[in-house]
Amino acid sequence: MDHYVEVTPAEAGLTRDGVIKLHGAEGFEGMRKAGRLAAEILDALVPHVVPGVTTEELDDIVRQMTLRAGAVPATLGYRGYTHSCCTSINHVICHGIPSDKRLKDGDIVNIDVTPMLDGWHGDTSRMFLVGDVPVKAKRLVDVTYECLMLGIEQAKPGNHVGDIGHAIQAHAEKHRYGVVRDFCGHGLGQLFHDAPEIVHVGRPGTGPELRPGMIFTIEPMINIGKAAGKVLEDGWTAVTRDRSLSAQFEHSIGITETGCEIFTASPKGFDKPPY
Ligand code: MF3
Ligand code: CO
Ligand code: CO
Repeated sequence: MDHYVEVTPAEAGLTRDGVIKLHGAEGFEGMRKAGRLAAEILDALVPHVVPGVTTEELDDIVRQMTLRAGAVPATLGYRGYTHSCCTSINHVICHGIPSDKRLKDGDIVNIDVTPMLDGWHGDTSRMFLVGDVPVKAKRLVDVTYECLMLGIEQAKPGNHVGDIGHAIQAHAEKHRYGVVRDFCGHGLGQLFHDAPEIVHVGRPGTGPELRPGMIFTIEPMINIGKAAGKVLEDGWTAVTRDRSLSAQFEHSIGITETGCEIFTASPKGFDKPPY
């Protein structure tokens, strides 16, 4: 049996192991603001993601814009992580650490931001194409975005978490891509990572039932090659074992009476490249 609890904002920050929180109107309003800021930060990065820029420079922009908006980058100091975003280039699956490495023509890069605004977390990531990108890589990016949106289509009351995973897996595997199993989407709100886990593979009708008030991310990571990954010595950077390209998109959403609300949609319509 899965357990659910209706929470007020005062209770939303409490850890309750495995219990799925059902948020009210105030929680949705908090997420709307945090999610919008997260999306605006990614929108603002667009002109800066060009050949020659370092990922540290992008991280500086994210940190400054977050702080200026009265928010805090939730990743800063999170489990020892010392940056304001993750920058995952080419065969990096996720959690790439910003550095003095320069982006080069033909790279694909995921930038993942999580501003915490008034206690609420807006968690979102998009792929960016650096200069002229090969068709094979662009196709991966397009299909990965489609996977996210097909997953979101399944996010409605009465459906199950497994319906989301199934939709994502079916679409990715139709293109002979591998779906990463090592990382998943997650509940969030006043906590950065909360129950339930949103696995990006699955069988229809399995897993926790979706109910109005649930807030979580969907963030499929899709590889051109096999699904397997490994984490590098730095303890963060996850890469594909076969060094094939990997892509990811992430939205934070809330289940409503009729479907879901996407909190992190781009105000500029920059949801997927080309921007
Ligand atoms: N934003 C990531 C997620 O989607 C988490 C990054 S944690 C970090 O859940 F410490 F690596 F930044
Ligand atoms: Co996330
Ligand atoms: Co994220």
